[in-house]
Amino acid sequence: MTTIPHVLSLFAVLWSPDLAPQGPSPKSPGAAPAAGKSAPTFTQDVAPIVLGHCATCHRPGEVAPFPLLSFADVQKRGKMIRQVVDDRFMPPWHPEPGYGEFRNCLRLPDADVHTIDAWVEGGMAEGPKEALPAPFAGEPLEIGFNPEFLRDGIESVQSDEIQLKLISPLRPGLIQGEGDDYSYLIMPIRLAG
Ligand code: HEC
Repeated sequence: MTTIPHVLSLFAVLWSPDLAPQGPSPKSPGAAPAAGKSAPTFTQDVAPIVLGHCATCHRPGEVAPFPLLSFADVQKRGKMIRQVVDDRFMPPWHPEPGYGEFRNCLRLPDADVHTIDAWVEGGMAEGPKEALPAPFAGEPLEIGFNPEFLRDGIESVQSDEIQLKLISPLRPGLIQGEGDDYSYLIMPIRLAG
């Protein structure tokens, strides 16, 4: 069941931080120093890597044999993922490093490989669900919705992937599942300030 992370990640994107306080920010004074940093988590550290570098192929309908979209997908294959990124077998990218830069380089930065190593070694924690990144395209846009209506719309989508399509702060938004015919129209509300 992957509905809840979607709800929370969308809320995290749509709500301004002062409306939805989410604990101390990483930059707050007294944050743990890098040396004493605890093990990476999926939602905070690993999901941005996997969604950015692996999910283009590792999703239903694409060339890779299994999806890497959710925490369960990635945790289930954690050891194997570590192996293939350590060996530089994945992402598939053949040119050896050190012979000039290629455009559209798929090679994973060393720091990302180390993050995956540390995550698998540290026990593959999920992390706070609201930290899960929601990929987006287009211009930044501030738009308010009644959170209950937003949740209703998102929860009635059957597929694992949910798209929220927005045009302007004054026009309705559209909630759609990937590959199902269902569309949910949601009216914006006026934001204070
Ligand atoms: C350009 C498309 C593409 C990208 C990007 C990609 N993969 Fe793959 N991946 C594949 C394909 C195709 C296979 C099947 C390869 C095979 O069986 O030889 C595969 C297989 C795998 C396997 C199984 C390997 C095995 O030995 O069976 C793992 C694990 C994996 N990928 C992890 C990842 C991870 C982690 C990333 C991101 C860091 C990633 N992949 C990025 C296309 C991709």
